[in-house]
Amino acid sequence: MAHFPKDFTWGVACAAYQCEGAWDADGKGPSIWDDFCHEQGEAHVKHGDTGDVACDSYHRFREDVALMKAHNIKAYRFSVSWPRVIPDGDGEVNETGLAFYDELVDALIENGIEPMPTLYHWDLPSALQLKGGWQNRQIAEWFARYADIVARRFGDRVKRYMTINEAQCITELGYGMGVLAPGLKLPQTEIARIYHNIALAHSAAQRAIKAVSPDALVGFVPCGKLCFPQCDAPGALDAAYRATFEYGARWGFNFNIVLDSLALRRYDDSAPEPVKRFAATIPEGDWDLMEKPDFIGINVYHGDPVDGDGAPIPHVPGEPLTACKWTITPEVMHYAPLLLHRRYGLPMIISENGLSCNDRVYLDGSVHDADRIDFLHRYLVELSKAIADGAPVMGYLQWSFLDNFEWASGYDERFGIIYVDYQTLKRTPKDSAKWYAKVIETNGAAL
Ligand code: BGC
Repeated sequence: MAHFPKDFTWGVACAAYQCEGAWDADGKGPSIWDDFCHEQGEAHVKHGDTGDVACDSYHRFREDVALMKAHNIKAYRFSVSWPRVIPDGDGEVNETGLAFYDELVDALIENGIEPMPTLYHWDLPSALQLKGGWQNRQIAEWFARYADIVARRFGDRVKRYMTINEAQCITELGYGMGVLAPGLKLPQTEIARIYHNIALAHSAAQRAIKAVSPDALVGFVPCGKLCFPQCDAPGALDAAYRATFEYGARWGFNFNIVLDSLALRRYDDSAPEPVKRFAATIPEGDWDLMEKPDFIGINVYHGDPVDGDGAPIPHVPGEPLTACKWTITPEVMHYAPLLLHRRYGLPMIISENGLSCNDRVYLDGSVHDADRIDFLHRYLVELSKAIADGAPVMGYLQWSFLDNFEWASGYDERFGIIYVDYQTLKRTPKDSAKWYAKVIETNGAAL
């Protein structure tokens, strides 16, 4: 039987662009994701899908909150759309946009669900991208002003914030490889600059939130390479630690590329050349500006198994895969919190974990997603081992409550525990939603 702490937070997560729709309603400004989908169409997003309507949660959030309550959900990690609140990113506040989140926060609290906003989940106001977006160091000021506006409005009701979701995907996938908005392919020193600007922006936002709500907890949500030992040889955990944090050719996907700046105020000696070149140009005082987050949000989907020396274990023919062909590696949920805690000593929350399946409504009208139940079950059992081994993990947020817009894959990937028919927008709880409700009800003892 799996054990979880008494005050463990069980929740779900989603992001504004992926579920809200209403892309131009009530004074919302355009974001880089609106532009990416509209201007570049099928070339960038499968089938030319867009988030224009998505799950229409902007209009249906009360139904969604009621469904959360019916499934015992205790926390909802949603993201605030920056251009809905400040249409051009840095100017007038759109009161209607802010009021939408006000109503959402109230509805959650009325239903016993903790609102856990993320300030940035990839939908940068287009007007800010025209000024260089994350390449422009001024983004720290723009972001801090936005954080201040949000914190003033919700500070009386929100206790835990997350600032920026997956710096690695923003940077590498959006500005380096061009597969996510804004679709740029910049050289590596620019990538290093963006990481630094993200660290400055997180820090400025954390200060802004704390100035308004000194007791609020502020988290940061990185992602990237997570290695785990696939043998119990002595030293295997040390080897997995080294493999996780050592920079390779894909250095932009390391956790430490941005967490070291925030939590340790440095790059380590093994930092890659482009980072060292850029670091030489950083004003000295910048390091004093870095704010260690109160907690780390870890988005855990899959990891890389390594042997007792930290070398990658070769691909196993026929290994278990998700619908989007990611490997299924539950053990990463055991080791990732331990490795991150060893390096940074911070509390953590699993801010995302879930499975994309080819779900459909069966003849009996239900959605039977045994694959997802098996996946979540395995990962949660591993998470309980991490906690038993001493990793301070405060909660678990399943990704995602509703099926939603999966970025460049459009609507083909279904991660939800609630099925969404995109023609009618009807929501149907999948078997996994009922299963998760039971897990929550028993604080994990049902596992
Ligand atoms: C992102 C989500 C995304 C999920 C599944 C994470 O990278 O934060 O927005 O939908 O993974 O791909």
